[in-house]
Amino acid sequence: MLTIDIEALQTELTHQKPRIILTKALELFDNIAISFSGAEDVVLIDMAVKIKKDIAVFCLDTGRLHPETYRYIEKIRQHYQLDIELLSPDRHCLDDFVKRKGLFSFYQDGHHECCSLRKVEPLARKIAGLEAWITGQRKDQSLDTRQHIPEVQVDSTFSTAQHRLLKFNPLLNWSSAQVWDYIHVYEVPYNELHSRGFVSIGCEPCTKPILPNQHERAGRWWWEDETKKECGLHASNLHS
Ligand code: ADX
Ligand code: SF4
Repeated sequence: MLTIDIEALQTELTHQKPRIILTKALELFDNIAISFSGAEDVVLIDMAVKIKKDIAVFCLDTGRLHPETYRYIEKIRQHYQLDIELLSPDRHCLDDFVKRKGLFSFYQDGHHECCSLRKVEPLARKIAGLEAWITGQRKDQSLDTRQHIPEVQVDSTFSTAQHRLLKFNPLLNWSSAQVWDYIHVYEVPYNELHSRGFVSIGCEPCTKPILPNQHERAGRWWWEDETKKECGLHASNLHS
């Protein structure tokens, strides 16, 4: 593990453009991966392949993604000739959970239990072996939970005393409109659900299309309070 002065790195990257942040992240670490959700954060992949040939990309396959998202992941794999690693939940825990609570318990008692099992545990397993990960989080995705995300941070959720994990958020200062400008200008493939009113895309039972003036995350876990709309991947956003 490199010894990195995190404060100096934060200062260097503050207000920098996504490409600069991404370049720095890929320069500093070989053992780093992009976390791709099958939505508009494909921009990270498009930028990264132009910076470095062999980038690592993973996707948390919750088993509940839309068929369109699975087709899209495959499209991206072929378009960029990438080995996208699909991470599945632990089979024994999942069997037990579904047996106990069925397939839609989140509508009754919240999304945390299901997200912990289908997303957070596979993520924790994956990033335990990494030095850093790269996400597509943006501030404008949430006024409640994402306003304070920095360009780079020690991931307080997944770091341990023995393993300091860094998290880069290169798109943090971009608006949704900037992301879409990039997608159109560089002809980046996008998830077909975006043409049907979906903006922020997660799992099928927990994602709805939104109406014109609704906030982009209004279609995610719509039955829950805005201030709780983090699934655990970015849990540190809830206490920053
Ligand atoms: S979530 O925590 O509410 O689901 P969101 O959909 O806003 O997250 O995505 C923010 C970032 O988290 C994405 O840009 C991506 O880096 C990561 N992410 C979210 N869902 C996944 C997924 N299924 N697989 C891999 N990364 C994901
Ligand atoms: Fe489960 Fe919904 Fe979370 Fe997907 S988003 S893991 S279906 S609660």
